Amino acid sequence: MLIRRATVADVPAMGQIINDCAEFGLMLPRSLSSLYENVREFHVAEETGGGGRVVGVGGLSVVWANLAEVCALAVESNQRGKGVGRKLTEACIEEARVLGVRTIMTLTYEQAFFEKLGFAVIDRQKLPLKVWSECIRCPKNQACDEIAMTLVLEDVPELGVPKPVAPPPDQYIVPIIRAMKNGNAPPPEDDD
Ligand SMILES: CC(C)(COP(=O)(O)OP(=O)(O)OC[C@H]1O[C@@H](n2cnc3c(N)ncnc32)[C@H](O)[C@@H]1OP(=O)(O)O)[C@@H](O)C(=O)NCCC(=O)NCCS
Repeated sequence: MLIRRATVADVPAMGQIINDCAEFGLMLPRSLSSLYENVREFHVAEETGGGGRVVGVGGLSVVWANLAEVCALAVESNQRGKGVGRKLTEACIEEARVLGVRTIMTLTYEQAFFEKLGFAVIDRQKLPLKVWSECIRCPKNQACDEIAMTLVLEDVPELGVPKPVAPPPDQYIVPIIRAMKNGNAPPPEDDD
């Protein structure tokens, strides 16, 4: 089994694996559009010695300075129990280390699997609000029963959280509105 970075050619297979699991309520569905947009976050597991079929997928999404989330981790049902999920998660962990993110989180039903990889259950209320922004798409939004777990990479230093930087007041104002605000009326439209 080869674990490698995903490419755009992998996206249809990634979508199939994730959405098959989503049908069983194991994870959130993903649109192809969101997978293409975020393809750089993902690793895939490819069968070697065959036609190079993709049988597993997993992503790491950075949440904030010290926090990233293992997301959309899924292995084809007939390939489970062979170490594929472990290898994909280890690739996510290594990615966090390279990025300098100290804590990795997951929201999951697979507590025993993540415990094998060093994750521990935490009080979900301790996760920052931003984590819950995805929940609006989830049918279980008001009755979420997923378990929050984290892994702290002790060899990665904790960063000071940066203060939010506000853009200059009228940076995003289109020039014509800025001209009107400055007392300059827009030029009359041409009559044909
Ligand atoms: C969770 C999932 C990714 C695990 O992938 P996998 O390839 O079957 O897992 P692995 O074979 O790499 O297992 C790694 C270890 O975890 C253990 N493990 C895996 N699933 C387990 C389970 N449900 N209960 C207990 N232990 C489990 C394995 O026995 C193995 O232990 P070992 O290293 O001591 O031998 C896979 O079951 C899956 O795709 N599930 C559906 C989607 C899902 O729930 N994703 C998680 C979203 S957060």
